[in-house]
Amino acid sequence: MVVDNKGIISYIRVLKNNLAIFKIKPESGSVPDFKAGQFTTLGLPVNSEGGKLVRRAYSIASPPEQKKYFELYIRWAEKPMPGRLTTELFERKQGDEIFWLKPTGPFGILDKGRDGSQDTRRIVMMGGGTGIAPFISFILHLKARQDKREIICLHGVSYVDELGYRELLTELEEESIDKGRDKWNFRYRASISRPDEHFNRSWGGHKGRVETFLNPNSSGKSPLEELVGEKITPENTMFYVCGFQGTVDAGLGHLTPAGFVEERKKRPDGSHDLRYESYG
Ligand SMILES: Cc1cc2nc3c(=O)[nH]c(=O)nc-3n(C[C@H](O)[C@H](O)[C@H](O)COP(=O)(O)OP(=O)(O)OC[C@H]3O[C@@H](n4cnc5c(N)ncnc54)[C@H](O)[C@@H]3O)c2cc1C
Ligand SMILES: NC(=O)c1ccc[n+]([C@@H]2O[C@H](COP(=O)([O-])OP(=O)(O)OC[C@H]3O[C@@H](n4cnc5c(N)ncnc54)[C@H](OP(=O)(O)O)[C@@H]3O)[C@@H](O)[C@H]2O)c1
Repeated sequence: MVVDNKGIISYIRVLKNNLAIFKIKPESGSVPDFKAGQFTTLGLPVNSEGGKLVRRAYSIASPPEQKKYFELYIRWAEKPMPGRLTTELFERKQGDEIFWLKPTGPFGILDKGRDGSQDTRRIVMMGGGTGIAPFISFILHLKARQDKREIICLHGVSYVDELGYRELLTELEEESIDKGRDKWNFRYRASISRPDEHFNRSWGGHKGRVETFLNPNSSGKSPLEELVGEKITPENTMFYVCGFQGTVDAGLGHLTPAGFVEERKKRPDGSHDLRYESYG
């Protein structure tokens, strides 16, 4: 049975007209246990529909260790028609009530390797737009667990002001340099897919949609391979993708021919090298 829990919107950070970070606090008790990568479902009564409760799924960006609130990274689905839930949500203020469902969903970090032992492969996360949300939860959870695996976070957006977690991820990379990669091995690279737009004129980093980190250059290596200093293979890397279906398809298009096996088509022993969550 679906139970709509009451919550309070305790914080809103507006990044731009159609993009914001929300914190939702349970009205009573703490955030229930969940796994990094799962989503909650928000519910709001829609006035134009006679107060009918509309529900939508949102990846949780906060880690499972954060028991006070869920953090969510949400785009107002503005075009071609104002989206039903997000249009209501972007009208709300801090302190307003909202409903939420217990977190669920299959997306998450693979911990056990092919033979049941700890998976020690490098983790590469590739997020398009708000598809970075589950990876913020992954990263903060891996940090809290003092996980020693090499972690690479790639984030692609259209405009520089949509790199909502740039400061946090840059600080986490600096911490890795300061503490030593034997303690915390994290790197973050961002990409801007509309580099020629005037608003993006300050951008000096990687250009193109996030999947272009996998495109081989004239020397046959991709920017990702140049970053890690070796060929990316299923033996040395576990890959995660979240974003538009186009982002997922482009990731699969590069990785499947290289021998990466997705979770949904796992090998008879259950092993796989690629997980994804698509916007549908
Ligand atoms: C597992 C999962 C996790 C998700 N995580 C996130 C997240 O972290 N952040 C996030 O921002 N979103 C996330 N989403 C997407 C989210 O669930 C919603 O789909 C999204 O917010 C849009 O909801 P809405 O009710 O505002 O729009 P809807 O009313 O559902 O509309 C969806 C789209 O259809 C268009 N549309 C509506 N009616 C028409 C029409 N008559 N003709 C043409 N087009 C129309 C709208 O313009 C809009 O672009 C996630 C989805 C899933 C499945
Ligand atoms: N897990 C989920 O199901 C989930 C999660 C988050 C968001 N969503 C929904 O998806 C919608 C858009 O999300 P967003 O705001 O995160 O995206 P966005 O900011 O509009 O786009 C993010 C990046 O994806 C690229 N992109 C756009 N369309 C693409 C396509 N068809 N194939 C490959 N790449 C593409 C963009 O490139 P260009 O600059 O070239 O356009 C940009 O670099 C929202 O309505 C949101 O509600 C769903």
